[in-house]
Amino acid sequence: MRAAFAAAHSGQASPLSYTRVAIALHWIVAVVVIAQFAWGWWMLEIPKQPPGSRAAAFNLHKSVGLVILALMVLRLGWQMRHRAPTLGGLPAWQQVLARCTHVTLYVALIAMPVAGYLGSVFSGYPVEVVRRYIARLGMERSGAQGTDEWDS
Ligand code: HEM
Repeated sequence: MRAAFAAAHSGQASPLSYTRVAIALHWIVAVVVIAQFAWGWWMLEIPKQPPGSRAAAFNLHKSVGLVILALMVLRLGWQMRHRAPTLGGLPAWQQVLARCTHVTLYVALIAMPVAGYLGSVFSGYPVEVVRRYIARLGMERSGAQGTDEWDS
């Protein structure tokens, strides 16, 4: 944040392109999010009986969703420390639209995993990897269920 602020106020020329890290994070998140949507819709079709494969698919979806959240936090941190190239040359309205699209995508890709996580926790089927971690710390709530027996 301080670096971006300093760069923005130091009169430094805007970079001509995104950093390699920003480009890599962009494409990794894009591919994983598209796969996550497809997986999320597909997993709901898995029959509840016999138990096992549906729970495994849900658990994978939840874990990948949390990885997306972590990648988005990383992106946000990186974005704050490294200036993005300006959109000079484009009409002002296109620059505003591009900026709004960018911000909307950030908000959505943080809100979606957070909503999924909260939904899981409050539905009584917490995220399995997190539940195991908490159990290992000896902090598990009595009565909390894993998704081993997912049957929603
Ligand atoms: C960017 C990240 C995510 C995307 C794009 C995503 C996408 C989806 C989609 C498309 C569905 C199917 C919805 C439907 O047709 O009703 C779904 C369902 C679900 N997702 Fe996610 N998800 C994400 C993150 C998460 C996370 C982090 C969790 C939990 C930790 C989670 C838990 C669930 C659960 C439990 C369902 C099934 C809901 C039901 O039973 O109707 N998702 N998700």
